[in-house]
Amino acid sequence: MSTPPLIGRIGLVTGASAGIGHAVACELATLGARLAVNARREDRLVALAQEIADRCAPTTRLADPDRVVMVPGDASDPGVIRQMLDEPEERFGQPVDLVVVNAGRGLAGSVLTSDESQWEEVVRINLLGAARLIRAAGERLAALQKGRAWPKHPADIVVLGSNVGRHISPFSSLYGSTKAAVASMTEAARRELGPKGVRVTLIEPGIVKSEFQGVAGYDEQSFGALMDKFSPVLTPEDVARTIGFVVRQPAGVHLCDVVIRPTRQDYP
Ligand SMILES: NC(=O)c1ccc[n+]([C@@H]2O[C@H](COP(=O)([O-])OP(=O)(O)OC[C@H]3O[C@@H](n4cnc5c(N)ncnc54)[C@H](OP(=O)(O)O)[C@@H]3O)[C@@H](O)[C@H]2O)c1
Repeated sequence: MSTPPLIGRIGLVTGASAGIGHAVACELATLGARLAVNARREDRLVALAQEIADRCAPTTRLADPDRVVMVPGDASDPGVIRQMLDEPEERFGQPVDLVVVNAGRGLAGSVLTSDESQWEEVVRINLLGAARLIRAAGERLAALQKGRAWPKHPADIVVLGSNVGRHISPFSSLYGSTKAAVASMTEAARRELGPKGVRVTLIEPGIVKSEFQGVAGYDEQSFGALMDKFSPVLTPEDVARTIGFVVRQPAGVHLCDVVIRPTRQDYP
């Protein structure tokens, strides 16, 4: 067996209790990274850590149970963000150098019909939470790269945008607006941090089957019909594999903006 490509790297994945974040955590662990994982549902993080110990890490021949640090809590909270970056460094004796800004949620409906009582939460986690983590991680990763011989060591911030952030959908209006803002902020961070040796990557998936649709409140019948039309839609593992490919490129190579859709998805 060849050496897994992410041996020696310390990853952080937010929103790792379900869907894309869960699959990304498993993928990065399988590729050899040690990890910090975050989400609000702690029981899910405990199950994930066990799954990584049982299923993912053994393929790296590094199946020690100590490869995962759990940081439960709200990913938009500045105190939790500090913990996400501090605790893995304390545990592993090495700072995080691969951050996946994934925690987020959708909201069904147009400007006029979406549930306004949920707007603040959507903006807080999708936009403010992402901005705070990109900033905190950006400061630390830039400082880390300053002390390193370039271009031997990659350092990554990978941000989950959305197709709906790039192509306007009246059916996910507030959600799409937060993801358009996230795309803009990610590119701004790439321009600021790229010259410092930090890759800031935007991943823009089309439809991925996960808990996302239920949380967003999409109408099961009409959304189900859309899923059938585009079938097979993406799985969280499809997105995770893509992220695994991006972060294992040599330090001087940056796949900076990846759009991934089900082949049959024509819109958005
Ligand atoms: N599914 C799609 O079609 C799709 C398409 C494009 C982009 N995306 C983006 O991909 C990302 C992941 O989506 P998904 O499909 O995997 O959705 P999901 O299955 O609903 O998972 C969302 C994850 O985010 C976590 N989360 C939500 N709010 C949080 C908070 N305040 N603090 C910490 N964790 C929080 C959830 O965990 P807890 O509830 O335990 O906190 C869960 O682990 C999101 O940013 C989403 O916008 C999804």
